[in-house]
Amino acid sequence: MTSDSRNITWHQAVIGKADRHQLNQHGSCVLWLTGLSGSGKSSLAVSLERELFARNIRSYVLDCDNIRHGLNKNLGFSVEDRKENIRRIGEVAKLFVDAGLFTITAFISPFQEDRDMVRKLFNQDEFIEIHVSCSLEECEKRDPKGLYKKARNGEIKDFTGISSPYEVPANPELVIETDKLSIQESVDKIVEFLQNRKLIG
Ligand code: PPS
Repeated sequence: MTSDSRNITWHQAVIGKADRHQLNQHGSCVLWLTGLSGSGKSSLAVSLERELFARNIRSYVLDCDNIRHGLNKNLGFSVEDRKENIRRIGEVAKLFVDAGLFTITAFISPFQEDRDMVRKLFNQDEFIEIHVSCSLEECEKRDPKGLYKKARNGEIKDFTGISSPYEVPANPELVIETDKLSIQESVDKIVEFLQNRKLIG
């Protein structure tokens, strides 16, 4: 069911994003982590959040497992449901960026079209797509939740990398190779990128 937009009125905020940036003494953006299950998105997200917190930067992690327990609990892993999952997260991330936060998202987000749809919600310098790159072989070896094993056995269908595609980002702002770098090295690389972009000091 969709609402009739003719009966919905947009309210202009009294306090704007720029006001919040001034209050926080820093800007806001979305760090969109995308990669295979087991590539290290969640570990990287929490370590990055800790680093930003230590630097007095307000941030928040939106993680797939948590979001799928609540906001998106009615969605599965079909192409359509993944699209809706990513659309909702994109909209939530937009609100968080508007609220002045560094918003770190950790979703497989396997389809280029869906990631591009989210990118369009933001200004050019606000959306930072980070490919958390790790070979399927290594992810399957790690198999932290035992899901690859289940996917290979046919217990889970439409599993990314096995029975559902992962489209490697065509033009991400950053690629972090978690099968080559430690978590700290990965965090350092993102921090360096943010400093070069003058998003943090
Ligand atoms: S997506 O593709 O962006 O909509 O997926 P996402 O919201 O990131 O959810 C991925 C996590 O769900 C678990 N899981 C699956 N992943 C992929 N395919 C299938 N079929 C599936 N079923 C369950 C899995 O734990 C993913 O978490 P991560 O952290 O990526 O391992």
